[in-house]
Amino acid sequence: METAEAGAQAQDAMMQEVEVHLRIKRFDPDVDKRPHWEEYFVKLKPSDTVLTALHTVKWTIDGTLSFRRSCAHGVCGSDAMMINGVNRLGCVNLISDVGTSLVIEPVRGLPVIKDLVVDMEPFFAQYRSVMPYLINADDPGYTERRQSPEDRARFDDTTKCILCGACSTSCPVYWANDQYVGPAAIVNAHRFIFDSRDQARAERLEIMNQKSGVWRCRTAFNCTDACPRGIKVTEAIEEVKRAILYDRS
Ligand code: FES
Repeated sequence: METAEAGAQAQDAMMQEVEVHLRIKRFDPDVDKRPHWEEYFVKLKPSDTVLTALHTVKWTIDGTLSFRRSCAHGVCGSDAMMINGVNRLGCVNLISDVGTSLVIEPVRGLPVIKDLVVDMEPFFAQYRSVMPYLINADDPGYTERRQSPEDRARFDDTTKCILCGACSTSCPVYWANDQYVGPAAIVNAHRFIFDSRDQARAERLEIMNQKSGVWRCRTAFNCTDACPRGIKVTEAIEEVKRAILYDRS
């Protein structure tokens, strides 16, 4: 009974509006020489998301605020941003998770187009460079390309990537070196390197062995901490490093 009462009280608390203070890094290339900070105060429920906070600012205070979003459910990967110093998705972090005082910035390491919108093309060029698709020249006939549950499990973790870029843009090596393909591209290379149906393992490992590849990783673990899907990014990078070494030995 007490537990039910406590549950009801917690639910009530999540429905009470609180004042949320947002400090957002703004940049409009048409008028600004450099980024600047702007502050907003909005009333929200603790169960609202950071994305709802941004929508509230945009729809009720300043329509010029720019940010990307689509699914609002942590699936499309559009709204990675830095929230209180950590890369996160705006749509899956609640005010009750991140607090009522928010500092919001664009992710680092990619050129800012406007406000929280960054140019993702360098990121997608790095992604394309690892050939992120199944390569198999054999004709499967009128059947699927089958694999055992164990073989499928081998790369299950890295299939979860939604290409939000939170991992790559939290990596200090990625910020400093535009030649590095970055954690997200390596995660997507891993997904095919360890797929028993794929026939381009050697070619992918060769790409990963170049100076733009895995050896640039300094194992900072920022990528693993930032991934909103909980992918063990650093572990995937280490597995690719080991595959390069053991395939050659
Ligand atoms: S809007 Fe799609 S992941 Fe957040």
